Amino acid sequence: MNSLRDKIDFERLPQHIAVIMDGNGRWAKKQGKLRVFGHQNGVGAVRAVSEACAELGVKYLTLYAFSTENWNRSQLEVDTLMRLLSKTIAEEVKTLNDNNIKLNAIGDLSRLPKYNYDALMKAIEDTKNNDRMTLTLCLSYSGRWEITDATKRIAEKVKSGELDIEQIDEKCFSDNLSTSGMPDPELLVRTSGEERISNFLLWQLAYSEFYFTDKFWPDFGKEDLYQAIVDYQSRERRFGKTSEQITENK
Ligand code: IPE
Ligand code: IPE
Ligand code: MG
Repeated sequence: MNSLRDKIDFERLPQHIAVIMDGNGRWAKKQGKLRVFGHQNGVGAVRAVSEACAELGVKYLTLYAFSTENWNRSQLEVDTLMRLLSKTIAEEVKTLNDNNIKLNAIGDLSRLPKYNYDALMKAIEDTKNNDRMTLTLCLSYSGRWEITDATKRIAEKVKSGELDIEQIDEKCFSDNLSTSGMPDPELLVRTSGEERISNFLLWQLAYSEFYFTDKFWPDFGKEDLYQAIVDYQSRERRFGKTSEQITENK
């Protein structure tokens, strides 16, 4: 069987792919196991997708790992997820370095337990010189939190006289978001059959193409990512223009 990889047009590869990794709990439940078993098995999919993106030449991969709203889950699930996160981060530093991948994290990181925050900062420091791809983990993240946070930062700058109100434009706003310096994702993938945004990258996804699959996250592999990219490449991105305008300019 030929890999879907052969169908990818490398001239039109998305530079930035964002993923809502969903369905770990249902994956575990389907096999009569506890939800945490699903989270543990989700790590393999993170590895596969990161490797596939780096190999293809995608420059930014952004993964929704824990939302602001996920703090409302049971204490047991939150604790287990936090422990799993720091364990995985520590274990994967070598692989990240071997593959020249830089780790980054966005979200309200001050809410993370200290051991988790420390593990994260160490891994970020240890991979900071890598430049093949940036892997961003969204932890204690939500789009509304991020937009509120950016607004506060901008307000502070206006208050201190560093910025004029007239200088606040879309570029200025983007520069104050935690994704500053990254291109907006061209492609958003969500697994598990849910077709919603769940407070992810609200500003940045303004013109992204959405790809939904019924597969639960632990079952998502390299071929599934290739499929998402092939599907993305079959679409016409119009940015408000008409189809005729897009084809005329080719
Ligand atoms: C995604 O899987 C992982 C996190 C949100 C941390 P879920 O835990 O949401 O799994 P489902 O959606 O309940 O199956
Ligand atoms: C979104 O998944 C958050 C992450 C994948 C980290 P959820 O499972 O929390 O989303 P909802 O609650 O079903 O919208
Ligand atoms: Mg879910």
